[in-house]
Amino acid sequence: MKNYGEIKNLPFKELKGISQKTIEIHWGKLYQGYVKKWQEIQEKLKSVDLSQSNAVFSEQRELKAEETFAANAIILHEAYFDILGGDGKPDGEIVEAIKKNFGSFEKWQEEFKALGLGSRGWVILAYDFNDGKLRNYIADAHNLYGIWGAAPILVLDMYEHSYFIDFGSDKKSYIETFFQNLNWKAINKKFTLLNPPKAVRQSRNLTG
Ligand SMILES: [Fe+2]
Repeated sequence: MKNYGEIKNLPFKELKGISQKTIEIHWGKLYQGYVKKWQEIQEKLKSVDLSQSNAVFSEQRELKAEETFAANAIILHEAYFDILGGDGKPDGEIVEAIKKNFGSFEKWQEEFKALGLGSRGWVILAYDFNDGKLRNYIADAHNLYGIWGAAPILVLDMYEHSYFIDFGSDKKSYIETFFQNLNWKAINKKFTLLNPPKAVRQSRNLTG
């Protein structure tokens, strides 16, 4: 069960081509900073003055808006780190599901990588509970363009802090390196956990 206020362990020691310095800043400072801010917001909400509620400005309104920024930052960063540290070799049920949803694995990969160049924040392969399909989505900020009911499975962070130290402005090389570090076992685990039972997936023609 997810606990927003708890800092999750990093599931790997090191990555290929992405430096310890980047990981230290990204996971050690930025991700953990979001968890702390989420905790701070929860504390403030306990004593917020509800009588001042207002759609132009009120403390409650601001706290609830920024709660979505912090919570989504936690969800997306954990989803990003969770699936790194592997050998990059695509495998398992998720690969079959991707083929069925996108025509071929290569087509999906091509679209996902192109979105990496087109997004200002995130690229997300999500399982969309609304129609039972896998879809690629982008988010220009943690709480922008999210689809209610779509669960992230494979997440790419395109904020500059993810790559600038190691790749400068060469986003393409960063995206290739990201794919080389993917842990497909972890991606499959996430897919199985988030998904309906196999019988339902088969009935929706999502996977074989
Ligand atoms: Fe990030």
